[in-house]
Amino acid sequence: MKLADNKATLSFSNGTPSIDLPVYHGSVGPDVVDIRKLYAQTGMFTYDPGFLSTAATQSAITYIDGDKGELLYRGYPIEQLATSCDFMETCHLLLYGNLPNAVQKKDFSSLVTNHTMVHEQMQFFLRGFRRDAHPMAIMTGLVGALSAFYHDSTDINNAEHREISAIRLIAKMPTLVAMAYKYTIGQPYMYPKNSLSYSGNFLHMMFANPCEEYKVNPVLERALDRIFILHADHEQNASTSTVRLCGSSGTNPFAAIAAGVACLWGPAHGGANEAALNMLGDIQKNGGVEKIGDFIKQVKDKNSGVKLMGFGHRVYKNYDPRAKLMQETCKEVLQEMGLEKDPLFKLAMALEKIALEDDYFVSRKLYPNVDFYSGIVQRAIGIPVPLFTAIFALARTVGWIAQLNEMIGDPEYKIGRPRQLFTGAVPRDVKPLAQR
Ligand code: SDX
Repeated sequence: MKLADNKATLSFSNGTPSIDLPVYHGSVGPDVVDIRKLYAQTGMFTYDPGFLSTAATQSAITYIDGDKGELLYRGYPIEQLATSCDFMETCHLLLYGNLPNAVQKKDFSSLVTNHTMVHEQMQFFLRGFRRDAHPMAIMTGLVGALSAFYHDSTDINNAEHREISAIRLIAKMPTLVAMAYKYTIGQPYMYPKNSLSYSGNFLHMMFANPCEEYKVNPVLERALDRIFILHADHEQNASTSTVRLCGSSGTNPFAAIAAGVACLWGPAHGGANEAALNMLGDIQKNGGVEKIGDFIKQVKDKNSGVKLMGFGHRVYKNYDPRAKLMQETCKEVLQEMGLEKDPLFKLAMALEKIALEDDYFVSRKLYPNVDFYSGIVQRAIGIPVPLFTAIFALARTVGWIAQLNEMIGDPEYKIGRPRQLFTGAVPRDVKPLAQR
């Protein structure tokens, strides 16, 4: 980051001496006011619950322009990556900062392929869960449990260990998600097949069974690969910030990623794709397109607690570029599966149209986000609704790891330790029990 010739002067109306705060430029996007010395110089904290105006770090990985609806991974527009690259190239880009050439891509892909198996004893963790356990509950447990198997790669401050754990996590997430799925339907686990692509192997582990040959559908393979690309990273979102804060204590990467999985599960975050599909299902059940008006009325009624899931975003105040690409992928998959008339897709398109013309949404700059269409396309691929967020976690693992490694690789990083504005009881003495 570059010191700006501009500076911020903080003055107080009560005569407290004013202070100058340096301003820094990044390569693109908003400047930052450096407040690191504020408490030492004024005895005061800044106050920003929800971090609406706070940059928690500098980063060179992902840039979002929320007003324009732009998303760049290491400078490359998401539209170009989603149409001209595959997920392995995107992983290489996010981890190492550049798109691989043919040799690097081959080496990276085979490195990942050769780490897709998990320790046989991982199966015993699954047996402890009920068959109807939510896949995200299972994933939170399984990812954390990986730390127990990789003592040789849990020194987060060792660059080689960081590299090994990055490959292991990217490689094993599809295996674990497929195992979580197979466990809930009582089918045997399918081992990874090294002859398949990353996405093709995931489809195989999910939908193949030992009794018959399984042929990967190339349209679904490409669609899934694009879904992974679109979900790979997204700047300092809630789960990425969780991974950074968790990793800042020096804990092992598997534990830090497990924390990210747990955070992503929330319906305000990665759980929105499951919630959005359930929302569409409910509207469909209650009358479909004709009943959209009633639903929108509920959403506008603050007391209803009903939100239009898959809409709105803290950063995007324009159309989420991923939602556009996801809608296109939706059309391709529905066509391939002969589901062009899928009522939920039609309902989603109608809902989007009505919302984008309604002042409640327009005035609040609420647009479809990545989660609005992703559920429809995953459902068309045959992925069960409760597994949607686990697929999001699978794809986001590379982003979490890249962000974690960027932080740990920064010699200036410290353990994250926010402060507070205390509004509780001032010091008081304990009365003996008889006097309470
Ligand atoms: C993801 O951060 C990321 O980058 C996340 C993500 C990633 O890739 O990591 O992009 C993935 O999490 C996408 C978001 C998925 N979540 C949802 O789709 C859930 C529904 N959306 C909302 O819960 C909400 O929009 C958030 C949580 C996404 C953003 O909330 P903010 O920025 O805290 O905004 P807010 O809740 O303060 O809302 C501002 C106004 C409020 O109305 P007023 O109080 O001003 O009258 O907009 C309203 C909100 O009530 N509003 C909605 C709404 N989202 C916001 N009203 C109806 N439906 C919605 N979806």
